[in-house]
Amino acid sequence: MAFEKNILCIGAGYVGGPTMAVIANKCPQYKVTVADINPRRIAAWNSDNLPIYEPGLDEIVKAVRGRNLFFSTEIEGGIREADIIFVSVNTPTKTFGAGAGMAADLQYWEKTARQIREASQSHKIIVEKSTLPVKTALAMERILTSTANGIHFDILSNPEFLAEGTGIKDLEAPDRVLIGSRETPDGLKARNELIEIYANWVPRERIITSNIWSSELSKLVSNAFLAQRISSINSISSLCEKTEANITEVARAVGMDSRVGSKFLNASIGFGGSCFKKDILNLVYMCRHYALDEVADYWEGVVKVNDYQKERFILNMLGAMFNTLAGKKICLFGFAFKANTGDTRESPAIYVSRRLVEEKAELVITDPRALINAETDLADIKEKIDFIKDPYEAAAGCDAIAVMTEWEVYAALDFEKIYGNMQKPAFIFDGRNILDHSNLFKIGFNVFPVGKPPLTHF
Ligand code: NAD
Ligand code: UGA
Repeated sequence: MAFEKNILCIGAGYVGGPTMAVIANKCPQYKVTVADINPRRIAAWNSDNLPIYEPGLDEIVKAVRGRNLFFSTEIEGGIREADIIFVSVNTPTKTFGAGAGMAADLQYWEKTARQIREASQSHKIIVEKSTLPVKTALAMERILTSTANGIHFDILSNPEFLAEGTGIKDLEAPDRVLIGSRETPDGLKARNELIEIYANWVPRERIITSNIWSSELSKLVSNAFLAQRISSINSISSLCEKTEANITEVARAVGMDSRVGSKFLNASIGFGGSCFKKDILNLVYMCRHYALDEVADYWEGVVKVNDYQKERFILNMLGAMFNTLAGKKICLFGFAFKANTGDTRESPAIYVSRRLVEEKAELVITDPRALINAETDLADIKEKIDFIKDPYEAAAGCDAIAVMTEWEVYAALDFEKIYGNMQKPAFIFDGRNILDHSNLFKIGFNVFPVGKPPLTHF
């Protein structure tokens, strides 16, 4: 069958894989290829054991792989054949040189731009899917047009707003799809081609357009606003713990104001994930670059409160358990940065694990999906930790349980049974406020939620 369009995505990660699987599923008339430099990742995408866990993803990939969705390491050929190229490579925080610890590391991005330039033999539309600093499209244009081969490229910005764990749902019914372009005839033509792809399943009114710089900036600002809500509620959780106010009650009262809204007001051990921190730091770095120090300080505060929240959790554990954790056995319920994913990037559980080991506690970690990543993240202190899939087995013999991830299965566990097999006094630190605290207290636990008065037997 001849396909109407050839779409290539460079970068087969958490964004590239699911995004292209959904496009292929919704648009059988297009050939969609996802390419990556990592052969192991591509082999996994071509196997029964996909490299990422995302509810609904397996079913879609099984339905379309080999029909109009292909995973490949052949990047050059893919570029030559493509009409539209999405670039979805990683853009982590820079760890070296100028801007280390703050700025986005654009080396993978730039390598891709050069690869596209070298391999292209005809006009292409290049779509920025990765999250990038404002004006990256300009750098891309300059790289792509820096040879005299006469090939024309149009660059679009089309940031991805999916959240892990709900990625497929977010892609199939997005709140909005944002497309930024140059406002030239060529730019607008390219923009319309991308609109046409999304219009196969996204209602037109949800496909919004803007100038290219607004689009690049909107992605960073969206993540900054979301993270800011979490830091706001978490900052108030510390005040609740001092005043006997209850953070769930406060969040409900505040969130019922329709101007504020009720979502993203769950107090927690702190936000994790590969993007919030990196994208805010990227924003902060840009503000400092433009000498907007007050603005930079304001947004940096969101990350600082998040760090404070994680450390506060450790100090609360320490205080509750008689100021020493040395030799005590602590079980972490969950290691993923949120439920319904195996992803552990920037998970607060990494910080908590390291701090607990520093306090000389013995650690047991359980998680339904993230144990392999947990072992990798903690490889240097692995011998001090047990990784056990079954939560009952993991908690047996422990002094305390600390809930790191809001997996639904944890709320449904038989805590009478768990309590029976733990050391006494037994503690629960619910870093996600997902458990039935009064029931746990009745069973005999000393219970420490986030932002609520503790329930203790002494
Ligand atoms: P990821 O690390 O899972 O995937 C990136 C992939 O790009 C890797 O497999 C890597 O091997 C590949 N790659 C790097 N350089 C390459 C090259 N030159 N050629 C071919 N492949 C190359 O990253 P991710 O989580 O998918 O994020 C990608 C981008 O999307 C980032 O900018 C991120 O900020 C943004 N984003 C991520 C999410 C999310 O939920 N993870 C959501 C929205 C936006
Ligand atoms: C986030 C955004 O929600 C996406 O829109 C964006 O596309 C993505 O970042 C990205 O750019 O990578 P994600 O990090 O996958 O998605 O997951 P979120 O649901 O946003 O959760 C982030 C963190 O905040 C998690 O650790 C979560 O547990 C925590 N969180 C979330 C809270 O602590 N409280 C809340 O009320 C909500």
